[in-house]
Amino acid sequence: MSSTIHRRSLLKLTSLLAIGSALTKADVYASDFTNQRFAEGPIRLTSNENPYGPSPMARRAMADAITQSNRYPWDVTTKLLEKLGTLYGLTSEHVLLGAGSSEILGLSTLLAALNKGNAITAAPTFSIWAPVAEKMGLTVTKVPLLEEKMNDLSAMVSQLNENTRLFYICNPNNPSGTILPTAAVRDAAEEASKKSLVLIDEAYLDYTNEPSLVNMVSTNKNIIIAKTFSKIYGLAGARIGYAIAHPDTINKLAALQPWANAGVSAVSLAAALASLDDKSFVASSKEKNTEARMYTQKELESLGIKVIPSHTNFIYYSLANYKGNWQEALRAKNILSAGTYEQQGQWTRTTVGTLKEMQQFISAVKAIV
Ligand SMILES: Cc1ncc(COP(=O)(O)O)c(C=O)c1O
Repeated sequence: MSSTIHRRSLLKLTSLLAIGSALTKADVYASDFTNQRFAEGPIRLTSNENPYGPSPMARRAMADAITQSNRYPWDVTTKLLEKLGTLYGLTSEHVLLGAGSSEILGLSTLLAALNKGNAITAAPTFSIWAPVAEKMGLTVTKVPLLEEKMNDLSAMVSQLNENTRLFYICNPNNPSGTILPTAAVRDAAEEASKKSLVLIDEAYLDYTNEPSLVNMVSTNKNIIIAKTFSKIYGLAGARIGYAIAHPDTINKLAALQPWANAGVSAVSLAAALASLDDKSFVASSKEKNTEARMYTQKELESLGIKVIPSHTNFIYYSLANYKGNWQEALRAKNILSAGTYEQQGQWTRTTVGTLKEMQQFISAVKAIV
């Protein structure tokens, strides 16, 4: 059996290499890189990735960093920590790097769970950390979203008690794509931080015009902001994200990493550093995302589908009038989309891809409904 698996893996590798070998160095550096790597496969609208990335500057920096990969990349680590600290008017001591922001969510959960108690979160939201919380002995209280699919902050705050160890806010929220006013999140976070660690997940904030709440951390040791290079920076596969928190809190999170700030490769560090300078890539990703999102939203609505106005690179919509298996029906049309959420699976989420991909998605939807 293991030799079958081995043969299968080899076949898979060979076909991947065949696709890869069709990409020349010029293709890799070209600015219209969009999805060439996966041109043969299904349209990937599942994981809220940026279809245009990595940015041209990041791609060049990654290629250059390959040759440095025999050395530990500490000088680049330091540069990135300093650059991120400065970006937010803070210092490198306010930053901790992780292999994606999911590592930051996991570390924050572990820190919170050092003392048993409860965690408070919305439902549905991004809850990759919740199984860790439960395994580590935290009881997770899930507060349903409001009718308009926003986090119900006052209901969440009302659940706080002396045993609350973690209070998670995802803003904008995944999967609903809704955003809360910054002042409301700040107030709830301030209140919750009197009793608990507060984890604010800003993975999609770059798609909005709302400010980050990073400045809260200079005086408040109970606030952790999770940020990622996986979304608008187009580096999901590079696995790099970070926490912004008070230096004392950063030290506590760092103590839970086997080797602090050392889990990100030289290539990913170089990509992140370069992508912070590629402002035109970020701006064009945002603009193209808005155009494709507006198109998709309008088309779905014209088919009588209820859509929650999105502030992100994904769309949450109702399947109340659809009786089949939406994900499978799309899969049969060569489109990968997310599963279903809440109220007996009446809602689902689709990532906003390129406009061309969304036109293909809408054609598929028209054939299904
Ligand atoms: C809200 C939110 N936070 C965090 C993540 C984790 O992303 P990563 O680990 O790639 O930074 C995701 C991924 O989809 C997400 O949707």
